[in-house]
Amino acid sequence: MDILQAIARRRSIRSFKPDQISDEILTKVLMAAQAAPSAGNRQAREIVIVRDYAVKVALTEAAFHQFFLQEAPVDLVFCANPGKSQQRYGERGHDLYCILDTAASIQNVLLAAQAFGLGSCWVGAFNEEAVREALELPEEVRPITLIPIGYPNEQPDPTTRLSLEEFVHAEHYGQPWRKML
Ligand SMILES: Cc1cc2nc3c(=O)[nH]c(=O)nc-3n(C[C@H](O)[C@H](O)[C@H](O)COP(=O)(O)O)c2cc1C
Repeated sequence: MDILQAIARRRSIRSFKPDQISDEILTKVLMAAQAAPSAGNRQAREIVIVRDYAVKVALTEAAFHQFFLQEAPVDLVFCANPGKSQQRYGERGHDLYCILDTAASIQNVLLAAQAFGLGSCWVGAFNEEAVREALELPEEVRPITLIPIGYPNEQPDPTTRLSLEEFVHAEHYGQPWRKML
C-alpha cells in the first residue's frame, strides 16, 4: 500500500475479529517500530508483546475497561526508557526525547499495521501503576501507550480534522497561512 494511502485510510479500530496475527506479519510490524527515528539514535523505547488473555484482561482493567484491549489478539505496550535519553541529553532527554522516540515508533506501527490490513488504536488512557504491575515492568521503563492490533471488525467513518488554515501558520505564529496547493 502506498504510504499516503495508508496515512489517509488509517482509522482507530476498537472492534477486532478473533483471527490471530501470524508471527511473520507481527515481526514486520515490529520492524516498522525499529525503523522509526529517535533523538541521537538512542532508541529510548521498548515494546512488550501481550498475547496471554489474563494479561490482556489486566491491561483492559488498567485502561478503565476499554474492552477492545482484551478482544484484540495482540496488545503491544510501548514503553519509554528515560534513562537512555537522559545519559546524553539530561532533563530534556528524560522528560521529552524518550517520549518522542516512543511516539515515532508507535505511529510507524499504526501505519505498518494498516498496510497489512490490520486495525489498531492508540490507547493513552490508563493507570500507569496498574500496567507496571500487570507486566512486571522494571522501574527504569515507563509505559506510554497500549496498542491493540488485530483484523478489524468495524469500518469507522473518518473523524474530522482542523483545516490546514486552522493550525498552520505563516512565518510568525498567528499569521494566516494560505493554501499553496
Ligand atoms: C495520545 C493519544 C491517546 C489516545 N487515547 C485513546 C484511548 O485511551 N482510547 C481510545 O479509544 N482512543 C484513544 N486515542 C485515539 C483517538 O481517539 C483517535 O486517534 C482520534 O479520535 C482520531 O480518530 P482516528 O484515529 O480514527 O483518526 C488516543 C490517541 C492519542 C494520539
